[in-house]
Amino acid sequence: MAGEAGKRAAAARGAAEVAAGQIIGLGSGSTVDLLVQAIGHRVRGEGLAVVAVAASLATEHAARAAGIEVRDLNEVAALDLALDGADEVDPQGRLLKGGGGALLREKLVALAARRLLILVDERKLVAALGARMPLPVEVVPFAWRHTAARLAGLGLAPALRGGQDDPYRTDNGNLILDCRGAFADLGPAIKAVPGVVEHGIFAGFRPQVVVGREDGSSVVRG
Ligand code: A5P
Repeated sequence: MAGEAGKRAAAARGAAEVAAGQIIGLGSGSTVDLLVQAIGHRVRGEGLAVVAVAASLATEHAARAAGIEVRDLNEVAALDLALDGADEVDPQGRLLKGGGGALLREKLVALAARRLLILVDERKLVAALGARMPLPVEVVPFAWRHTAARLAGLGLAPALRGGQDDPYRTDNGNLILDCRGAFADLGPAIKAVPGVVEHGIFAGFRPQVVVGREDGSSVVRG
């Protein structure tokens, strides 16, 4: 699969950054799945003592299965380190997230962390957000068509993820509108639309970005 070796390299680097005694945040997605396996390997092999907060139910299940202790974010005041993937990273370190639908919990986990490490393969580095995919916007189901119309009023073209017959539901029971258009600087305007819960632009986080390469090497930026 394209990018697989890069993801694996980034995940391995991320797992090596975790230190004993830390409370860590775990995002979601296929790169985080590899990360969870690598951290679990350290927990079982070295007895690494670590507590994790998961940003999705899928990650929570995977972490528990890997032998990692999981707690609710409400049970901890802060996270030492959060590790997550991303769909896109621009040259300013802004992120596009939510391809897997977990953007709200991922943003809350990132906000709680003293340090944010983003794990990507080289394909995720873009000149401008929106190069590879639309912007995921999580909205409440009530009046979602009206919310979509207001997003269209911002110049976006929203599409209901999953379609109307079988709409995708987030872990929070909400819907995702995948919005095409020039959204890179529209984060605050989108967030201000009633019915919008959160959007997938992560600006102002100043993450360190681990870029995994197909040859198995990795570099850290930021
Ligand atoms: C999940 O909602 C996303 O934000 C993921 O972090 C993002 O889609 C990266 O996923 P992969 O690691 O599967 O590419």
